[in-house]
Amino acid sequence: MKILVTGGHGQLGYALKEVLEGPIVLPRQSLDISDVEGLEEVLEKHRPDVVINAAAMTNVDLCEDEPEEAFTINGLAPGWMGELAHRFGFVLLQISTDYVFSGKKASPYTEEDCPDPISVYGNSKLVGENLVRASLERYYILRTSGLYGPGGKGNFVKTVLERARKGEKLRVVKDRFASPTYTLDLAREIKLLLDKTPPFGLYHAVNHGAPSWFDFARRALEYAGLSPEAVEPISSEDFPQRARRPSFSALKNGRLEKVGLDAMSPWDAALKSYIEEYRP
Ligand SMILES: NC(=O)c1ccc[n+]([C@@H]2O[C@H](COP(=O)([O-])OP(=O)(O)OC[C@H]3O[C@@H](n4cnc5c(N)ncnc54)[C@H](OP(=O)(O)O)[C@@H]3O)[C@@H](O)[C@H]2O)c1
Repeated sequence: MKILVTGGHGQLGYALKEVLEGPIVLPRQSLDISDVEGLEEVLEKHRPDVVINAAAMTNVDLCEDEPEEAFTINGLAPGWMGELAHRFGFVLLQISTDYVFSGKKASPYTEEDCPDPISVYGNSKLVGENLVRASLERYYILRTSGLYGPGGKGNFVKTVLERARKGEKLRVVKDRFASPTYTLDLAREIKLLLDKTPPFGLYHAVNHGAPSWFDFARRALEYAGLSPEAVEPISSEDFPQRARRPSFSALKNGRLEKVGLDAMSPWDAALKSYIEEYRP
């Protein structure tokens, strides 16, 4: 199976390169997904069986400032890929996000819940989902949450540990909950999905559980042998950010469970693996 991965220099791109066998992994410099002609040229040249679109504009605050860019990369480009997938006959696996939800629910969101994004990022990713769905039948949309892992430009865990080691005190929100997910676990789940080919469509794929970011940060410090006292709990009101974020965006892997393919571990076990394997 010839697999092409976009966004190759990102966190998930790195993990997919580690886990898949001989994928073609293209960074932005080799494939800019917002250049529709370039996209067509590259896909025609490689003729993959599967394209995993791990490229995205992921800076949620920057998306508020540059909505046009966000909607092009996160919305239109997956749609163009969907049309090319239909034409060239490859399967498209689009990565999406928990931020398609507002966070008003009190239990983990399932695939049956109706998206209601509250940010430009969430809206743009939802446009991407809808355009993929409208352009072909042979697609997987995988929604995930709070990604961390090696590679890319850094992540929450790495920042927490680095700052704690410098003796800096960190303030982390205690009233925002998600399902932080280890990219290596997600990459292994993607491999399983492509090997077993369950029915096409939408799947949630996260590490199990719904910690607050404060609890997650404290656990990271504990696993790294650092003092949990380095983090201080704050409320999101004390930490204003440009983009609105859902207060509760944990996901449930409902459909993966149903097809017997939910191999994702609990959030704390995944965090421990990352810290032990990569020593961020
Ligand atoms: N990070 C999270 O917490 C999170 C949570 C839920 C879902 N997701 C989704 O998971 C996927 C992977 O995320 P990630 O954490 O691996 O993100 P990441 O580390 O930010 O990687 C995304 C990559 O896409 C590249 N990119 C941006 N615009 C591009 C374009 N026009 N053409 C080609 N490449 C482009 C980026 O390059 P530059 O750095 O040069 O811009 C970056 O290397 C994305 O679909 C994201 O929406 C992420």
